[in-house]
Amino acid sequence: MKSVKAFVSCLLLVIAANSFPISSPQLKNIPLRHLSTGLGKRDIHGQTLYHEQPLAYLIDVGIGTPPQYFTLTVDTGSSDMWVPSTACSTYSECPGPKFDARKSSTFVNSSIPFNIVYAVGAEKGTYGFDRIQIGGYNITKQSFATADTARNNTEQPKPTPYTQGIVGFGPYDGSSMALISEQHGSKPFIYTLHQDGHIPNLCFGLHLGSIYNQNYSGLLTLGGANKSMFHGEMDFIKVAPYESLDGEKRYMSWNALINSFAVGDNTYKLDKDPTPFTLDTGASFSYLPDSIVKTMVTKLSAEAQLGNNSIWYLPCSLLNSTKTLDIHFTNSTKRPVSSKSTYSIPVSSLILPKYDDNITSCFFGIISAKSMDQYILGLTILRHMYLLFDLEEMSIGIAKPVLKDFQPYPLP
Ligand SMILES: *[C@@H]1O[C@H](CO)[C@@H](O)[C@H](O)[C@H]1NC(C)=O
Ligand SMILES: *[C@@H]1O[C@H](CO)[C@@H](O)[C@H](O)[C@H]1NC(C)=O
Ligand SMILES: *[C@@H]1O[C@H](CO)[C@@H](O)[C@H](O)[C@H]1NC(C)=O
Ligand SMILES: *[C@@H]1O[C@H](CO)[C@@H](O)[C@H](O)[C@H]1NC(C)=O
Ligand SMILES: *[C@@H]1O[C@H](CO)[C@@H](O)[C@H](O)[C@H]1NC(C)=O
Ligand SMILES: *[C@@H]1O[C@H](CO)[C@@H](O)[C@H](O)[C@H]1NC(C)=O
Ligand SMILES: *[C@@H]1O[C@H](CO)[C@@H](O)[C@H](O)[C@H]1NC(C)=O
Ligand SMILES: *[C@@H]1O[C@H](CO)[C@@H](O)[C@H](O)[C@H]1NC(C)=O
Ligand SMILES: *[C@@H]1O[C@H](CO)[C@@H](O)[C@H](O)[C@H]1NC(C)=O
Repeated sequence: MKSVKAFVSCLLLVIAANSFPISSPQLKNIPLRHLSTGLGKRDIHGQTLYHEQPLAYLIDVGIGTPPQYFTLTVDTGSSDMWVPSTACSTYSECPGPKFDARKSSTFVNSSIPFNIVYAVGAEKGTYGFDRIQIGGYNITKQSFATADTARNNTEQPKPTPYTQGIVGFGPYDGSSMALISEQHGSKPFIYTLHQDGHIPNLCFGLHLGSIYNQNYSGLLTLGGANKSMFHGEMDFIKVAPYESLDGEKRYMSWNALINSFAVGDNTYKLDKDPTPFTLDTGASFSYLPDSIVKTMVTKLSAEAQLGNNSIWYLPCSLLNSTKTLDIHFTNSTKRPVSSKSTYSIPVSSLILPKYDDNITSCFFGIISAKSMDQYILGLTILRHMYLLFDLEEMSIGIAKPVLKDFQPYPLP
């Protein structure tokens, strides 16, 4: 017998609601905290925080019985959850709260080693299972890792309010735990939430809120989209799977296929058309091919200058730019039968001011990717989208977010 399926899929729910009234299920909307370490007031060069980020969207999670609380980065770029364990005793590695497994009566140690390497940083430890409280939902058995060592995550660690671990919202095949264990609760938590019957559809909506609010500003909707958080129609883009040599397709991450980018009259074609880009809320910057970034900045301004860490400096007058960056998405790897859609974001919002020693300079929110597998649409782009991540259809819905501050970053 087939498992009980929701009456309509997530995707249909959004499309149908635009044309006729439909009773959508009551979903919990979880406010996300927004953390900025003071963008514009800090030396970005010195930052080697998670994915070099000066920004993050965070969620509060309770783990164990009684719950121990952590504030975790909401990361669509990975699929596992981890928190530091009491074994991580050095302040430089784990300055914040640590999970004490002995103090949880429900913790089960799976003894499966955890070893994850991010673009910046690497974590080692073991997997276990425990109760998880997340946004008012209780999950009785969820896998997560306890990290005993955490390398290169923060250069200047602070116990609060910085992120204390990661909760991955990536697809099942991207989770290292899911690949080793078939147990219930081994999949990323959103799957467990669905399996346990807490949410009707296997999807989640994400509104990244205002960059000006330091605390609760984003909104995560588990099991659906929140229609009051976006305007107009939602465009769906199929997620591009990885294809192994034997032809097997796996959805490892939220990869969307892109044909090209454009700014004004200038079109930037990708060497390989289309090319997958990961929609990654764990990355504060966006990463495009080096040749595109170089041409883009020099066309934007003759004064563009390459700084350290591949960051481009641009004149702050570009905060007044009326141009847009157009992203041309496609659905299909087979051309010309591809259906396309364009999403535009203001160039001005990609100009990030920074203030050092009483000097204000501005830099570009797009950085040259070090390699092809690191093409990323990060927060500098994603905060201009309302996103619906559908794990049943493996598609990503993109719509214009309701955003009060759809403006460039303010000068200090
Ligand atoms: C789980 O067990 C392993 C040994 O198998 C140990 O190294 C690790 O510290 C344990 N994890 C926790 C959180 O107690
Ligand atoms: C940490 O960063 C240093 C310097 O950037 C690098 O040499 C080292 O390999 C990194 N370690 C890990 C575990 O990523
Ligand atoms: C979740 O579990 C905690 C502690 O076990 C309990 O206090 C809380 O009421 C539960 N919440 C829900 C929504 O069931
Ligand atoms: C947000 O931050 C402000 C100032 O730090 C504080 O007064 C307010 O209570 C915070 N709001 C929430 C919901 O935490
Ligand atoms: C959308 O989010 C707002 C703010 O949390 C909430 O008041 C509203 O009920 C939500 N709407 C839906 C349809 O979930
Ligand atoms: C780049 O880094 C070098 C050495 O780390 C430093 O001396 C220099 O001032 C930096 N340049 C800028 C533009 O920050
Ligand atoms: C943007 O334009 C306004 C009006 O022309 C001007 O006052 C302001 O200085 C400009 N801002 C920047 C950053 O160039
Ligand atoms: C992708 O395909 C879906 C269904 O096949 C279609 O509804 C949608 O319009 C397409 N979107 C884009 C961006 O091509
Ligand atoms: C920055 O400006 C303030 C006040 O104008 C002054 O006290 C301070 O010394 C200046 N700092 C530098 C590094 O010039």
